[in-house]
Amino acid sequence: MTTVIPPRRCLQLRTVPRALENIDISNFIEMDNTYHDRMRIRRSVMDEHREATLQCDDVAGPAVLEFYDWMLSTYLPTRFPSIYKPVVRPSGPHLHNVVSNTNLPVRPVSPMAALETLGEHVDTDFLFLLPSSTAPDGSPIYHLQAFITCFPAGFSTREKCGNPLAAIHAPVPGYAVKLEKSMDRFFARIEVGRMVRRSNWSISTDDQLFSDGGNHMYGDAEQGKPIETNNKTLDVDNPDLDRKIEEQKRDVAVDDCRLRCERQTLHRLPKTKALVFAFKTYLYRLEEVKEEGLGPVLAEAIEGLGKGSVPDMAFYKRGVVWGEKVIAYLNS
Ligand code: HEM
Repeated sequence: MTTVIPPRRCLQLRTVPRALENIDISNFIEMDNTYHDRMRIRRSVMDEHREATLQCDDVAGPAVLEFYDWMLSTYLPTRFPSIYKPVVRPSGPHLHNVVSNTNLPVRPVSPMAALETLGEHVDTDFLFLLPSSTAPDGSPIYHLQAFITCFPAGFSTREKCGNPLAAIHAPVPGYAVKLEKSMDRFFARIEVGRMVRRSNWSISTDDQLFSDGGNHMYGDAEQGKPIETNNKTLDVDNPDLDRKIEEQKRDVAVDDCRLRCERQTLHRLPKTKALVFAFKTYLYRLEEVKEEGLGPVLAEAIEGLGKGSVPDMAFYKRGVVWGEKVIAYLNS
């Protein structure tokens, strides 16, 4: 049966970061009452930022096609039968999307066309990883090789494409020291049939779902590795940093701020053995957070950013810019 839930009911689950947990594969995609609006936004983001949202390296074509076939032939019509209905047209099998009143070809003309169809008709972003290099001990290292990401949370997926997980996470404080080794092991071992989920949260100072920069502050003090930045990102090594933080703090308007949460999943495809990393983005006005009675919970989580096992997270998430005003509002 199709379950369409209002996204607000998910709020509580997403304010606190969680460790990885196993989920049933039937819960791969979440559907809610923002679906129709989101489809419009996704189409316009893809039109406006085609290069930034879509890419498929040749090596990833078979994985994208395998995933697309499973989604359109099996998962979507079984899990959400009132939205995606199988139909046979003279040109071959299609899925009829009842909400947009369009037919999606089950046999796409190319991997890029497959990614585009997924991007327009499923409110989840998909990234494909392959074991494209090998560590000195012979274990596989996973690289990002294809993606459809309409709602990146402040990074350029295109700049990350081709890179291994460690380079992709280079700006994340604590990743190299605390996560890299165990993640590489975990990625190498995750078996077909298992699906894991994690959630994250941050505060954005605007309501833009597509963000290829500006949500983070980067520095390389800890890792000593080059960090990818772009011109919208505040660099902690900038000699003018204090002045820039003060300027940005003044510009923060609480009404414009959003709680931004991602529900992320990871699983392996049975044939090509590629890994699919998927995330759905939720944006909540801070007023909604308060209405749910979660103001103090979120305020405490924000305060905890600078006190946890990785205090630089407060910098990375730009808490030093929006923290004061947002905490004051949430506790008011
Ligand atoms: C499932 C295991 C994973 C863990 C535990 C993990 C951990 C993290 C953490 C802690 C962050 C910092 C922001 C946050 O709180 O989420 C992050 C950011 C990020 N992760 Fe992951 N990650 C995982 C998988 C992946 C995969 C498979 C990709 C695929 C390419 C990916 C791409 C990214 C990107 C693009 C960022 C933003 C980096 C930036 O600021 O430039 N992650 N990840």
